Amino acid sequence: MASMVAALTQEDMENLGAFYDAQDAASGAVSGNKELLEIGKILYHGGNIENGVPACASCHGPTGSGVPPHYPMLAGQHAEYTLVQLNLFNTGDRSNDDGVMKKVLTRMSGEQKRAVSEYIQGMPLTK
Ligand code: HEC
Repeated sequence: MASMVAALTQEDMENLGAFYDAQDAASGAVSGNKELLEIGKILYHGGNIENGVPACASCHGPTGSGVPPHYPMLAGQHAEYTLVQLNLFNTGDRSNDDGVMKKVLTRMSGEQKRAVSEYIQGMPLTK
């Protein structure tokens, strides 16, 4: 990523930001697995006390809109993308979160990661 953005001027970056800000995001279709979505919903909003997983909502917001600039928007993101990011944080291959997400993820099961990713994809957007 650094090599791709190295040549951009400040103005280029502002223009890119304005471009993306003007786009309408669309929330994705979710899989029909209601049980999985329910697990994801509970985890997103309430975390999991038994495993010590904090609620995603506590940092990314109850609507998944994020809290700029520290906590990214999640709502409507493709489940596959979210799942890949969760696994990257877990293995330490993505670490731009200062280790915050890794702490969340080492306590989550594979099913919980999949469930929360599916739930996020179906969250309505509130931009
Ligand atoms: C204590 C705060 C905190 C909690 C709780 C938390 N996150 Fe995060 N999350 C972060 C931070 C910080 C980042 C990295 C921000 C960045 O990339 O600049 C992040 C990044 C992410 C990303 C990457 C987004 C992207 O666009 O690439 C995903 C996906 C994510 N979190 C999902 C979750 C899920 C799912 C949960 C609940 C199981 C959760 N987070 C709980 C703080 C938190």
